[in-house]
Amino acid sequence: MSESTSVSPVVRPMTPADLDEIVSIDIKVLTRPRPEYWQMKLDIVEKHPQISALVAEIKGQVVGFIIGGASRWEYGVPENIGWIDTIGVDPDFQGQGIAKLLFANMTESLKENGVDTMYTFVTRRDWRLLKFFNSIGFQKGDMVNLEMEL
Ligand SMILES: CC(C)(COP(=O)(O)OP(=O)(O)OC[C@H]1O[C@@H](n2cnc3c(N)ncnc32)[C@H](O)[C@@H]1OP(=O)(O)O)[C@@H](O)C(=O)NCCC(=O)NCCS
Repeated sequence: MSESTSVSPVVRPMTPADLDEIVSIDIKVLTRPRPEYWQMKLDIVEKHPQISALVAEIKGQVVGFIIGGASRWEYGVPENIGWIDTIGVDPDFQGQGIAKLLFANMTESLKENGVDTMYTFVTRRDWRLLKFFNSIGFQKGDMVNLEMEL
């Protein structure tokens, strides 16, 4: 059930101390615990300042997160491209503009670093994420997703 709040979320950089709260949100949105995965992500975030990782907090509780950054010519993608790796909002706090706020904060700093276009990957069956990205202005792009079974 959505928990309506009149307190504005505070957006701040993610820190290693956020691990447990992020894992809890991830369990709620994906229904399986992935603490090792998140530990690895937080280690990467700490070591690579070009990665942008933010959390939204309400009354001291982490209620959402976003990880992304600017391209450094990976896969021939130029530096004016930014990407979103992952985004998640606690279901109790969804529908209140928190994901939108996290995205706006992240892109503000990316724009200052020359980024003018954002990329992300979404599975075509994930209507919720597709609707979210569409509502903030994303459209189908020119990159082609290649895959092969081994
Ligand atoms: C997608 C998600 C991030 C949206 O978070 P949110 O804080 O509820 O989104 P917002 O309140 O900022 O919504 C922004 C826009 O997206 C749209 N939107 C968000 N959730 C939606 C839904 N479930 N259905 C339709 N539209 C939706 C809203 O309509 C809103 O548009 P508007 O401003 O024009 O009204 C959230 O539902 C989530 O965490 N989903 C799971 C994410 C996931 O699987 N991540 C990968 C693993 S970490």
